[in-house]
Amino acid sequence: MGIFSKKSNAILGLDISSTAIKVVELEKSGNNFRLLHYSIESLPQNAVSENTISDVEQVSSSITRAIKRSGARSRNAATAIPGSHVISKRIFMPHGLREDELENQISLEADHYIPYPLDEVNLDFEVLGSAPDSPNEDEILLVACRKEIVDDYIAVLEDAALTPLILDVEYFAVENAYEQIVQDLPGGGMEKITAVMDFGATTLHVNVIQNNQSVYTRNHSFGGNQLTEEIQRRYGLSFEEAVQAKKVGGLPDNYQPEILRPFMDAMCQEAMRGLQFFYSSTQHDKVDSIMLAGGCAQIQGVDELLASKAGLPVDIANPFSNMSLSPKLKAQTLALDAPSLMVACGLALRGGK
Ligand SMILES: Nc1ncnc2c1ncn2[C@@H]1O[C@H](COP(=O)(O)OP(=O)(O)OP(=O)(O)O)[C@@H](O)[C@H]1O
Ligand SMILES: [Mg+2]
Repeated sequence: MGIFSKKSNAILGLDISSTAIKVVELEKSGNNFRLLHYSIESLPQNAVSENTISDVEQVSSSITRAIKRSGARSRNAATAIPGSHVISKRIFMPHGLREDELENQISLEADHYIPYPLDEVNLDFEVLGSAPDSPNEDEILLVACRKEIVDDYIAVLEDAALTPLILDVEYFAVENAYEQIVQDLPGGGMEKITAVMDFGATTLHVNVIQNNQSVYTRNHSFGGNQLTEEIQRRYGLSFEEAVQAKKVGGLPDNYQPEILRPFMDAMCQEAMRGLQFFYSSTQHDKVDSIMLAGGCAQIQGVDELLASKAGLPVDIANPFSNMSLSPKLKAQTLALDAPSLMVACGLALRGGK
């Protein structure tokens, strides 16, 4: 499922985030996968802004550097469009239509659901199964994105000499990675409702998943850049120095109580707000657990703090937890990077499906 796809085996998962290019290459290994290569390459500031590629050249040269650094060999790529650019709708169609009949029917009806002229959008759909309340109908997930956005993503991949095979949607990639993580739990973790909270640099991506499908997604404008900016202000550092200091430490003693702790509290507050939005816009009134992802999940103790504030179990996402690793990779470094690789991993997994 995505905006478009062509079948192939080895696929490079490429997350074009607001601050970095993340590359993941997997290899099918028996019933599972092996992580062969990955890398995270910072993007120049403003190359991607407000979820939009603003500088195709800078983004594609960062992609080239990221791939080179990772050592990945495949040149077939899957990337994802931010959910904010995508319109998705669940619609119902008579059960038993052939693929071509379904396609025809959907293209006839799509303009009821999509607020743009149809020749300006890329459209895709997936049959989810029988409609819950009506056995004569199928539930269809319809996904659309404006062509000009799609074209930018294709342009950066092609500029980086890649073949764009799959253009996915960020929250589908997160679903994929989530499914990989929970596959060994009893029942594949299916019945449980998990709120995946991905705290990136600019955005908290909330994705509530049940039966391996998103039942709710929402982006909040909140992320690690707020902490970076506070460090810059307080200690007179450049953006890059502040980002580095967050990771390696060495900031004055007052950093922990006066800057980091308030940011951790703010993260918890934003996560709780995310849950409240979910409850108030759906039939649900609880989740079973929270899965913390994104670079901010690395902040020591934030999982425990959130668990105590939310009164829920909190796990830190590691999409590679069930995979074997290439001997060239360092497990310790990967453990730190893994939570921020949910999208890239979910994309790379598309190669094995
Ligand atoms: N050890 C750490 N401690 C605190 N913050 C960290 C650490 N490591 C990374 N971060 C922060 O995590 C953020 C980057 O996370 P991530 O890679 O998930 O973001 P992104 O995917 O680029 O952003 P977005 O999803 O918002 O587009 C940055 O703000 C970075 O400074
Ligand atoms: Mg991200």
